Amino acid sequence: MPLVTYEETRSWAGKMAAAVEMKMMPPWFADPRYGHFSNDPSLSEEEIATIAAWAKAGAPAGDARDAPAPRKWGEGWNIPQPDLVVKMPKPVRIPARGEVEYTYEIVATHFALDKWAQMAEVRPSSAAHVHHAVVYIRPPDSPWLRHAPVGEPFTASMLSDPEERRQAHETTSDLLLVYAPGSAPDRWADGMAKFVPAGSDLVFQMHYTTNGEAASDETSVGLVFAKSAPKQRVITLQLNNHALLIPPEAEDFRVEVEGTLPNDAILLSLFPHMHLRGKRFEYDIVHDDGRVETLLRVNYHFHWQLSYKLAKPRELKAGTRLRAVAWYDNSRNNPHNPDPEKTVTWGDQTSQEMMVGFFDVAVPAGMDKRRYFIRHGEVGGKK
Ligand code: HEM
Repeated sequence: MPLVTYEETRSWAGKMAAAVEMKMMPPWFADPRYGHFSNDPSLSEEEIATIAAWAKAGAPAGDARDAPAPRKWGEGWNIPQPDLVVKMPKPVRIPARGEVEYTYEIVATHFALDKWAQMAEVRPSSAAHVHHAVVYIRPPDSPWLRHAPVGEPFTASMLSDPEERRQAHETTSDLLLVYAPGSAPDRWADGMAKFVPAGSDLVFQMHYTTNGEAASDETSVGLVFAKSAPKQRVITLQLNNHALLIPPEAEDFRVEVEGTLPNDAILLSLFPHMHLRGKRFEYDIVHDDGRVETLLRVNYHFHWQLSYKLAKPRELKAGTRLRAVAWYDNSRNNPHNPDPEKTVTWGDQTSQEMMVGFFDVAVPAGMDKRRYFIRHGEVGGKK
């Protein structure tokens, strides 16, 4: 449904007016009472009224002489021409029907020196089948998936070691970036970047969904490196609650998790993740006096998993208590609910649930994820 030229757009006028008046479009799910986000595409009341008035007037073309020049779309990447493109070396075959287990492909970077990625963009070759892609950075000293094949697709159930099968979905490796349809590439501010140590591998974790047509996919990630060594390193952290247990038919089931930041950090963005029963997700700071400050509340929609980038990055001191709260709708009123009679627990497939509050923070460039979790004066990471 391209809305690029007048001819293409005209017949959609009524639906466009309805979609923008109901605030269904452009897609944005943050409750406007909390936080300000630099990627908020919401239209102003005036813009909404303009579209509505145009539709009501019969979608007139206006004067052709006032029309803007046809828009030129960039070829290829949305980020500037990448310094490096890392592509999954072997295509993954996706069947026409059925559920596909998460598929992994490990690609060696062969970096002789440490690198800093300031921008990164994921490009699937078969976007219609990619439900999500997560690209992890596996440093050379990481034991994660060490017995798994490199350079070819595999799934957790193909691994012979049961411990590695379990580990496939759980890692402390940092994320390079996460992709879902509609998501924007990552571009970190000058002086901030993701660290890719020399000798790292990139691990692609692909979730494919079938749509009646078989296909194959070879996803790539494009990287633009920082021109000089950054002062800050961006790391992705998460607040998870694996112990969720959602009773059958529960309409508004609440699950929370809290964590205390071990060191200072600058909060950059928030990315809630749940599955089909996800209803609302919230990130809060719980202040010492008990006051709760909500940073973001999302009316969650599984098909629209967005990153919410803070308009003004927020400095958080060591000791800050961060809380994530998720609400689930396991009732039959939820049109996406695959089975309201089921007790739902944690799992990969969309018929199971997750509760993950990802958040990106900037920390001093010399800090890694492990060191970030060592609390002051407590060598060895003891609490
Ligand atoms: C002011 C900007 C926009 C307008 C006027 C608009 C308009 C619309 C309309 C009229 C529909 C069809 C609704 C129906 O069938 O009843 C729609 C659906 C859709 N739009 Fe937009 N849209 C806008 C922005 C966007 C953006 C920025 C994206 C992607 C990031 C997007 C992605 C979609 C998708 C995926 C659907 C299908 C949704 C579904 O079937 O659930 N739209 N939009």
